[in-house]
Amino acid sequence: MQDVLNTLGNNATNLLENVKNSEELEEIRVKYLGKKGELTLVLKSLGSVAPEERKEIGMLANDIRKKLENIIESKKEELKIKEVEERMNSEKIDISMSKQNLNTYGHKHPLSIVIDDIKDIFIGMGYSIAEGPEIETTFFNFDALNAPFDHPSRDLQDTMYITDDIILRTQTSPVQVRTMLENKPPIKIICPGRVYRSDSVDATHSPMFHQIEGLVVDKNISMADLKGTLNMFAKKYFGDKTEIRFRPHHFPFTEPSCEVDVSCFVCGGKGCKTCKNEGWIEILGAGQVHPNVLVAGNIDPKEYQGFAFGFGVERIAMTKFGVSDLRYLYENDVRFLSQF
Ligand code: DAH
Repeated sequence: MQDVLNTLGNNATNLLENVKNSEELEEIRVKYLGKKGELTLVLKSLGSVAPEERKEIGMLANDIRKKLENIIESKKEELKIKEVEERMNSEKIDISMSKQNLNTYGHKHPLSIVIDDIKDIFIGMGYSIAEGPEIETTFFNFDALNAPFDHPSRDLQDTMYITDDIILRTQTSPVQVRTMLENKPPIKIICPGRVYRSDSVDATHSPMFHQIEGLVVDKNISMADLKGTLNMFAKKYFGDKTEIRFRPHHFPFTEPSCEVDVSCFVCGGKGCKTCKNEGWIEILGAGQVHPNVLVAGNIDPKEYQGFAFGFGVERIAMTKFGVSDLRYLYENDVRFLSQF
């Protein structure tokens, strides 16, 4: 019996000396000292040992138990320290890393800056913001806007068709009719959004760009209201000294139609690089809403009139920020974007 106990003790001590981690240590403890552990069983069976040997074997078994318990205790401490150290090494945070990168905040894209500034000015004049789908029907993009069936903008070379009558909208103007169908006059909205045309990319063209549409419908609205509104806008956005100029033009959905220029905000109209020596910069198309468009929007043209206008956002951003190539606006190169 003594031999069995000594072997058991030596085996356990050997295992404990080579233990690698806390789980293994616990396994060894259970194997020898657990409820059904090898040493526990010996201690439990003492009753069947001959009385003359019982005391001696009992003492030996207890000595071995104490010795194993002591080793287990000290190993436990040792492993705990080792494991914390290992964890600290593997989860190390490099506090010497430069905090430079963490200090650079993002900010608005130049196109968003232009859109938000223009929105602010019109909201200040009592307009609300309207939205419409970028995937649009030919009905809203052309028919309802009085564009004849053979209008060049309907051509495959200008418009991206999804089916015969579903397209990517080529302008934000379809939102005019959508808004009229959903709201009764007085209507005063602007609608910023993306538009698509089948153009190849170069310094001044992109198949996707942004417009801001404006629409006012009420009783007794005339070109004078349009002029007053755009004059006010131009002074607020480009500066107090800005003048505006109306040039006759043609759009199917307005009659009369015009293009509007602002006096160059860089040279004040004298002529410079920004205005290509013209003194004027074209910023939008506009006009009095065509009666057919009001009818498409379920509004009686005898009772109501309106004016509408449409900005190209990229063109304004490029002149305002002096950007020479449209592509810079879409490349998302932070060296470019961080300048604004
Ligand atoms: N939709 C026109 C375009 O894409 C811009 C425009 C011109 C909008 C006159 C208007 C307008 O609302 O009245 O070229």
